[in-house]
Amino acid sequence: MKNVLRFILPLLVVLGVLALVASVLAERLAMRWALRDLEARDHLIVNTLATSLAPLLLAELEPAVILTVMTRATRDERLMAVGLCGPDGALRIGTESLPPGMDCRNAPRPGASKRALVDLDTGPAHVMAFPLDPQHPDQTGLILVHDLSYLTKRIADAHGYVFLFFTVLTGLVSVVTVVVARVSLRRWVSAVRAAMTQVGTSAGEASAAPGEIQPILQEVRTLVRELKGGVRERDDSLVRWDPSVLREVIARELAGDEVIAVSNREPYIHVRGKDGAVDVRFPASGLVSALDPVMRACGGTWVAHGSGDADREVADEHARVRVPPQDPAYTLRRVWLSAEEEQGYYYGFANEGLWPLCHLAHARPQFRSADWEQYQRVNRRFADAVVEESRSEDPIVLVQDYHLALLPRMIQERLPASTVITFWHIPWPNPEAFAICPWREEILEGLLGSTILGFHTRFHCNNFIDTVDRTLESRIDREYSTVSYHQQTTLVQHYPISVECPSRWLQGQPSVPEARLRVRSANAMAKDVRLGVGVDRLDYTKGIVERLRAVERLLDTRPEWVGRFSFVQIAAPSRSDIERYRRFSEEVTAVAAAINERFARPGYAPVYLRVAHHSPPEVFEYYRGADLCFVSSLHDGMNLVAKEFVSARDDEQGVLLLSLFTGASRELPEALVVNPYDTDECARALHRALVMTPEEQRSRMRRMRGYVREYNIYRWAGRMLMDAARIRARNRLLSRCPDLSAQ
Ligand code: G6P
Repeated sequence: MKNVLRFILPLLVVLGVLALVASVLAERLAMRWALRDLEARDHLIVNTLATSLAPLLLAELEPAVILTVMTRATRDERLMAVGLCGPDGALRIGTESLPPGMDCRNAPRPGASKRALVDLDTGPAHVMAFPLDPQHPDQTGLILVHDLSYLTKRIADAHGYVFLFFTVLTGLVSVVTVVVARVSLRRWVSAVRAAMTQVGTSAGEASAAPGEIQPILQEVRTLVRELKGGVRERDDSLVRWDPSVLREVIARELAGDEVIAVSNREPYIHVRGKDGAVDVRFPASGLVSALDPVMRACGGTWVAHGSGDADREVADEHARVRVPPQDPAYTLRRVWLSAEEEQGYYYGFANEGLWPLCHLAHARPQFRSADWEQYQRVNRRFADAVVEESRSEDPIVLVQDYHLALLPRMIQERLPASTVITFWHIPWPNPEAFAICPWREEILEGLLGSTILGFHTRFHCNNFIDTVDRTLESRIDREYSTVSYHQQTTLVQHYPISVECPSRWLQGQPSVPEARLRVRSANAMAKDVRLGVGVDRLDYTKGIVERLRAVERLLDTRPEWVGRFSFVQIAAPSRSDIERYRRFSEEVTAVAAAINERFARPGYAPVYLRVAHHSPPEVFEYYRGADLCFVSSLHDGMNLVAKEFVSARDDEQGVLLLSLFTGASRELPEALVVNPYDTDECARALHRALVMTPEEQRSRMRRMRGYVREYNIYRWAGRMLMDAARIRARNRLLSRCPDLSAQ
């Protein structure tokens, strides 16, 4: 519309000026024709009157007789008055309508037509004096006065016609111009689009675009080739992703744009210890262990729920604190939630609703309207915090996980120029399973406010796209994996999450032999006992009971391991306000106790259940001191314990047993991949791990370490940020040529 006005307004001005000039010319022309016409008529009238009056004058008849003849002549509608002058030019006889004081002395003669125009009280008039006998111009004369009001009307009509003509002309020219412009623009746009999408193909290079736009197409092709080629080139060439490469990507690809991460769980929790001092705790959360190294590399702000009992004490008046506490690299902005908000949003909707909905672990989701209210309210509060923290109009916002499904659209509405990258850390169920959520449409609409929506696996992306397909009226492009909904296009892509490798938690770790001794002595075990380890939150999706049952079956079927093999289960208490979690914790405790009752003997226990929070260095010591690590999740998006174990084993020893139902099993096939529901298979795998030769362990571990080192957390973040950079660059290109995006 703006472009159309930009063209039409000058057109209107030009046509307006032309209309004005045409009116003036039309007026002049009408006047000239009228005067010429009048003079001719005057001569005719004078000749006629001369013929009638000459005998009367000769006969010297009464003036009244002569006046009658003259008055008859004024019956002509335009001849207003006639006067007869004597040889001295003074008026002798004049019709009644002759304006007073008018005589042949002051009236112009033929040829002086300009002076003949006068304004009388009755309106415009034409006055001219003629000799009655042209042979004797100094004798008797006639003065003729014509009413010109008809001419004024004729000129007004001419103005009207000129105006009408130019109005119609303007309309026609505008319509034709707009139609031609739209058709040309459409051709342009298709040609430019083809150039953008087909770069590198023979079709694109040899496009049959109109010749006049070939130069600009050439430029667009070059730009797109640079964008595409640049991204791929960097992705391929940067085999070793590390913090400096990630920083370089942000600086170069995103011109140092602002990065804001948002999650429910905060990376550093300040708690008051038993001695009254404030301690910093690093939570047991795959999300946090993955994102913290990224944020340390990029800087920026992380918005999260301030859940520690000493959090407020260390935060400033804006609820901000610099972290990591020992070596600050980014800002943690805390969001304070009331007990009611936390109950409804976190325990209720997120963890009793969405968590069991997305995990196939036979737990029935609970959906309550009151929880949903709180979930919406808290998502809005997080959106407020993001807007407050944002220093620019177009930050890159990294929204994390199922607690904040409504946030992407809220941010997109309030910061329309932002780029929202959402990552869903847990599985996405199939459409039938998701359909039981009463607020499924709202959840999907919220997520589709994202620029990029990431899952761990292609399988989860497909589930998501199928769910959208069943639930919302949207446009899905399966080839490019995009969903367009309400003017927003979301790229749905899989980005397998990973860990920092080499891990910072390895610094200061004892050697593997020393770690072996330390964990055994800390648990009062025999020095030579073979050890398995499990590290999880106490969560029913983690398959902890199935794992312990597998240990039991091993001891049943392979009694030679009784007294020689123990299993330490590190279990971080989790979500214990939820009944399902409390029951699960009791179940795990009971199962561990039952196994110990069966197989324990003085100086030996088969199962060591350690329900407590363990710091990352403590966990790493277990990874390094164990012979095997058992991950038996019933359903898990990725499971970072598996990758952490691999990253901890720089001695290239140790065996990983990995559930088939984790995202990690697709990336680490060198692990012993098991079905956690198949207790016999798991028991056999435990035995196989315990008898595996060091060479086989090395060869498996080496391959897994190579993979995790290459596909580490910096690559995960880098790939998403590079995709975001590509989309931002493309949007910038489109915003320079807005009609391109409207197609
Ligand atoms: C999973 C979720 C994370 C969450 C973590 C710990 O990994 O994907 O979002 O932080 O569990 O759970 P919690 O409820 O303690 O944050």
